[in-house]
Amino acid sequence: MKHHTPKLILLAFAGLFFLASCEYDYYVIPPEPLDPGDTITDTTWNDTTVVVDTISFAQDILPFFANKCEICHKGSTPPDLRASKAYSSLMNGGFVVPLKPDESSLYLSCKPGGSMKNYCSAAELKLLQRWILAGAKNN
Ligand code: HEC
Repeated sequence: MKHHTPKLILLAFAGLFFLASCEYDYYVIPPEPLDPGDTITDTTWNDTTVVVDTISFAQDILPFFANKCEICHKGSTPPDLRASKAYSSLMNGGFVVPLKPDESSLYLSCKPGGSMKNYCSAAELKLLQRWILAGAKNN
């Protein structure tokens, strides 16, 4: 019986590590959406500080999709950027990670160097960035 003890101790340690790693996942504090007037240091734009505005998806983002993107993204090429589909297509398709423009392919593909850069002005890119930073709401 006695020679089983080291194995048991090892098992106990393995279990503890396992539990500790799970615990870490559970206790990660989610980032808070930025409020209008908050500032962030923006590494994409050479470490300048940008103020997060209130961006309306319906009023600021959808018209720009309609003008610049919808000609190609009207159903068969994801994301579907037609007004009635855009929000669900972006979210369900994983093109937007709320609060994280640098993990959102919508933002990354429109950035200089991205595959959609030619269709998106700097001002429109900033709109996308600020909308995502403010929580990417369907507002
Ligand atoms: C001339 C046609 C055309 C226009 C205009 C266009 N796209 Fe695209 N887009 C495509 C095609 C084709 C793909 C799929 C192949 C690829 O990724 O290049 C695509 C892919 C994408 C993707 C997915 C990229 C990825 O990494 O998964 C996103 C996001 C996107 N486009 C956003 C936009 C936005 C936003 C606009 C408007 C600013 C836009 N596109 C304008 C043709 C277009």
